[in-house]
Amino acid sequence: MTTGPQGFDLGRLLAERGAERYELHTRHLNHQLPRMLRTIGFDRVYERAEGAYFWDEDGNDYLDMLAGFGVMGLGRHHPVVRKALHDVLDASLADLTRFDCQPLPGLLAERLLAHSPHLDRVFFGNSGTEAVETALKFARYATGRPRILYCAHAFHGLTTGSLSVNGEDGFRDGFAPLLPDTAIPLGDLDALERELRRGDVAGFVVEPIQGKGVHEAPPGFLRAAQELLRRHKALLIADEVQTGLGRTGDFYAYQHEEGVEPDLVCVAKALSGGYVPVGATLGKDWIFRRVYSSMDRVLVHSASFGSNAQAMAAGLAVLAVMEDEGTVAHARATGDLLRTRLAALVDRYELLHEVRGRGLMIGIEFGRPDSIKLRGRWTMLQAARKGLFAQMVVVPLLQKHRILTQVSGDHLEVIKLIPPLTIGEREVDRFVTAFTAVMDDAHGGGGGLMWDFGKTLVKQAVANR
Ligand SMILES: Cc1ncc(COP(=O)(O)O)c(C=O)c1O
Repeated sequence: MTTGPQGFDLGRLLAERGAERYELHTRHLNHQLPRMLRTIGFDRVYERAEGAYFWDEDGNDYLDMLAGFGVMGLGRHHPVVRKALHDVLDASLADLTRFDCQPLPGLLAERLLAHSPHLDRVFFGNSGTEAVETALKFARYATGRPRILYCAHAFHGLTTGSLSVNGEDGFRDGFAPLLPDTAIPLGDLDALERELRRGDVAGFVVEPIQGKGVHEAPPGFLRAAQELLRRHKALLIADEVQTGLGRTGDFYAYQHEEGVEPDLVCVAKALSGGYVPVGATLGKDWIFRRVYSSMDRVLVHSASFGSNAQAMAAGLAVLAVMEDEGTVAHARATGDLLRTRLAALVDRYELLHEVRGRGLMIGIEFGRPDSIKLRGRWTMLQAARKGLFAQMVVVPLLQKHRILTQVSGDHLEVIKLIPPLTIGEREVDRFVTAFTAVMDDAHGGGGGLMWDFGKTLVKQAVANR
């Protein structure tokens, strides 16, 4: 170890022990991560990153179409956000005294609330799941009712409260008992009303576009749901942890539909430029006044690191950059271009079924081909495990074309693209060219290797049963 009398030297530590990264992870952290990365050949060593790219130890560049699960909305190391963090450290602020009012949280709340004028107050926490937990607690307390409704296939985080509104058994299994909340199909107003009529519902939490599979509620659903909720005195909670801050081409995805004014909005991920964990729950004045109804209750919901100066400074810098650079409009235009170019390939490739989404949140769905030769291969994969074909596409995108993407959830034949919102035509070109080459391989020509890899995936899926 390099601590002790020699002091702490980050550069030296990384130089001396950086090469042990996979071994250390295997020994001390979640050992399945390095195992999975090795299995699919993703066990690279990335040394440096900037914007929408990172570089491996040999200096090869990789295009990032994942943005750290969406936290790198402005790409990595945006100079303005980076400077704000240097500045806030150099300012030696009296942060987190806990018995004063610092300026940065108020300023960030003011700036954030300007994007949803019908909301009045903000609670700052440290992550997306904490933003959701806050909304669930506030909805319960403000309405005096226990039950939260959520959508099938929803993802709202993995702490116990958020897990209670998770729409996938794979995440929930083995963690019961969870909170007694109830799932409805996305877009099903009858199911929503049926549950609301029972009179015990505090709120309905919904991702305007679901992260899993990139599914959007049908047009008009959010407005109609809001009306039903208001009639039954329950709250609409928009989870914008992934879709917010320009991701879908509007500042918030709920704003795509006119007249939607959620009672609570959850924000996190991109808010601090990918540097500092942060979460924010925005809400109406009456909800906050009910939760914090007396001086005795001042700490009834709080977080030790909430509102910390680094997160607040980064958040202020991110919102300033977004305004200065027109990030939301840019994401919409670039997203339209990428989606249009990908959608044009649907007729060319029988395995490619749909391209959907909004802004720079794009789902590419694969499905059963028509030709006999491909159908046999497809059926072999499906029999072993759903989602293997999407994995077969993600792997050569990284290995051959150095583009990082992900399968959009377990057992799904969908790839999700959530690149930094700063990408432009160059990145769109690079992705479409690479994706076209991978589709060419999958549909014939030089695709032998790709389908051989599919067979390996099948063997592993069968062995894992
Ligand atoms: C819609 C949504 N809500 C909540 C979360 C949880 O956020 P975090 O991972 O910061 O806890 C996520 C994370 O992917 C998300 O996509």
